[in-house]
Amino acid sequence: MDALAPTDLLYERVRHVIPAIEWPVFADEIAAILALKRQRNAVILAHNYQTPEIFHCVADIVGDSLALAREAMRVDADVIVLAGVHFMAETAKLLNQAKTVLIPDTQAGCSLAASITPADLRLLRARYPGVPIVTYVNTSAAVKAESDICCTSGNARRVVESLGVPRVILLPDEYLARNIAAETGVNIITWTGHCEVHERFTAAEVRQLRADYPGLIVLAHPECPPDVVAEADYAGSTAGMTDYVGRHLPPRVVLLTECSMSDNVAVQYPAIDVVRPCNLCPHMKRITLANIRSALEEMQHEVIIDPAIATPARRAIERMLAL
Ligand code: 13P
Ligand code: SF4
Repeated sequence: MDALAPTDLLYERVRHVIPAIEWPVFADEIAAILALKRQRNAVILAHNYQTPEIFHCVADIVGDSLALAREAMRVDADVIVLAGVHFMAETAKLLNQAKTVLIPDTQAGCSLAASITPADLRLLRARYPGVPIVTYVNTSAAVKAESDICCTSGNARRVVESLGVPRVILLPDEYLARNIAAETGVNIITWTGHCEVHERFTAAEVRQLRADYPGLIVLAHPECPPDVVAEADYAGSTAGMTDYVGRHLPPRVVLLTECSMSDNVAVQYPAIDVVRPCNLCPHMKRITLANIRSALEEMQHEVIIDPAIATPARRAIERMLAL
């Protein structure tokens, strides 16, 4: 009788979205990563956009940017591997100064984080004296350091409202800012940054999807343009969308966000018809089982933040988390 390998049980979880022919390569990498995690006393934090073999097979903690930031603070291991993009690894490091935080590929960036510099914030501060600056978490630590408070897609409304002022600067995502302005009535000054994944969705595409798939429930990320959000049944962070699916169990759903997230939701809810228009985030896709394994083998690439930046950047994140 053949004994089952631990990875065979993992395959049962993801067989719905990973073809059997691809599995043996993944299984070897997964077994190596599970052993390395024990050896290094490491945990893997994975964003909802990671591919299913990472998200469902090696990650210890998964979630949206807000959950990953919160969970990073509770981690008891010596090493955190951040399976996500660079700003997420920086956030984990800011909240865990004593731990080693590794990012498997230093080039895993973000079009929003790349759209704005600390000098831009200083210019805005000079132009709008006294107006609080809220930075979206999708920014570098150096940009956060120039701001008053951070927000994520999961709490942007709460953060803006908590300031209790009629005008705020919320940057760098123009669409998130316009979506929050529509919800809150606060006058929001923003920037022209866009997410290269979400800006591609259009309202016409949503109407076509509804025509093609009767009964479709449409969930949108607030980084989508406002006319797309207006066509959706619900808009929220990646965790907000997953929770919506869990609470409402719609027979047929589309998630207007990065493609791997739809695969991960399909694994969790195999009975739901998840319609999958695919917009890939090339930065998130830089993270693979192979480079997670190398990160743990070589203890690379460690995230280091200049203390002069880390102190004010941490203050902005902690102010958000305290809400
Ligand atoms: P969430 O915080 O909703 O997970 O979003 C992160 C992100 O990068 C969306 O594109
Ligand atoms: Fe940045 Fe968009 Fe990729 Fe999210 S999906 S990491 S916002 S480029």
